[in-house]
Amino acid sequence: MDKFIIDGGEKLYGKITAQSAKNTVLPLLAAAVLTDEQVKIRGVPTINDVENMLHILREVGCRIERQKDVAVIDSSNAVSHEIPARLTKELRSSVFMLGSVLTRFHRAKISYPGGCDIGLRPIDLHLSGLKRLGVKIVEKDGYIDCLAEKLTGAEILLDFPSVGATENIILAAVKADGVTVIRNAAKEPEIVDLQNFLNAMGANVRGAGGGTIVVEGVKRLHGVDYQPIGDRIEAGTYLIATASCGGEIEINGVPSENIAALLHKLRENGCKIRAKNDRIVLSSDGRLQSVDLLETMPFPGFPTDMQAQYSALCCTAAGTTLVVENLFETRYRYAAELKRMGADITVRGRTALIRGVEALHGACVTASDLRGGAALVVAALKAEGQSTVLDLSHIDRGYADFEEKLRKLGAKIRRVRV
Ligand code: UD1
Repeated sequence: MDKFIIDGGEKLYGKITAQSAKNTVLPLLAAAVLTDEQVKIRGVPTINDVENMLHILREVGCRIERQKDVAVIDSSNAVSHEIPARLTKELRSSVFMLGSVLTRFHRAKISYPGGCDIGLRPIDLHLSGLKRLGVKIVEKDGYIDCLAEKLTGAEILLDFPSVGATENIILAAVKADGVTVIRNAAKEPEIVDLQNFLNAMGANVRGAGGGTIVVEGVKRLHGVDYQPIGDRIEAGTYLIATASCGGEIEINGVPSENIAALLHKLRENGCKIRAKNDRIVLSSDGRLQSVDLLETMPFPGFPTDMQAQYSALCCTAAGTTLVVENLFETRYRYAAELKRMGADITVRGRTALIRGVEALHGACVTASDLRGGAALVVAALKAEGQSTVLDLSHIDRGYADFEEKLRKLGAKIRRVRV
């Protein structure tokens, strides 16, 4: 498997344009089967999660044309309601296919989804929401078999504002008979983008970005040509790397309100940040103060997907940070690897106590999930000496051209293909 060799200690300077958000592109691809007209999605990043989702679409019978970063999906000949285990185990977002395939075929059979090993990640909220819309569900031999002769609008109250459950219910409700109201819905910007995409196809969805989403079922959806929003987690990773190493970075393509929680913390750390429209400029001298507490929350709180990278920054900030991970149970697997680089981290359950050290040193470390892997890169860019980051398959799930973009900023990083 590929590895990165990183010589740490360089400051980072330059400009980055964010890729289209992974967590938008995945549900949008799933939504492409809602119409038999062509769906064109622009700025599609070349990352493993997207490639896996495209495989799944091909498996159900879609024709896909890919020209550079534009994907054109034609599902007019889609025939299958069944998504095999070998594809779903690679990708948790395969679960979004439930809602859209049900809408298309009134039946969907899918094996339990995979994805990053960061916690239990149940899908009970997805399934109970679908049941409210009239779906009959049989779980057997690792498969979930859903049948809905008719999808009917309903009132759904989510116990927790799950991103995936909110999206799945929207996808199942969009052509249902009547009105669906989702309360305690997730408020993430990616949900707003899904709403905009569906409405551009002729759907009637409103309220995304707030806690109540109303979906009025429509008879028909048509094709669309769409540019998704920029990836706030990718952008945040480059901001954190620059804050930690020192330097100046300009990020384009992500409105600052989409990463306000991160910008707030980085300002507290001592970074200077200017933000206007979808342009963010951060400068840092690389000597940061720690913040007392970092707690992950659903949007607009601090995103769990930036916890690991931010914790890497805390390792060399002056002082102590208490990190509390509220979303996923086992999201500290990177901590043992950071310790190899000299970090002082104590993990107990959902909390990590990080005492800032003078410097990290290079080491050979292994990525075990997507954002944890990015955290190791952030730490290695700051560390004294050379580091090796093994098992890039995780990082390649979410960051397009990661090393090229970092090299353009002045980092000494290269990929060794194994
Ligand atoms: C999405 C994102 C992921 C991000 C997460 C939280 C995508 C493709 N992935 O994942 O990058 O880390 O939001 O912002 O968009 N839960 C249940 N039952 C369910 C569903 C969720 O208990 O049926 C729990 C989960 O275990 C977790 C919490 O709800 O503790 C949040 O999960 P959720 O918002 O559903 O995350 P995902 O949609 O899987």
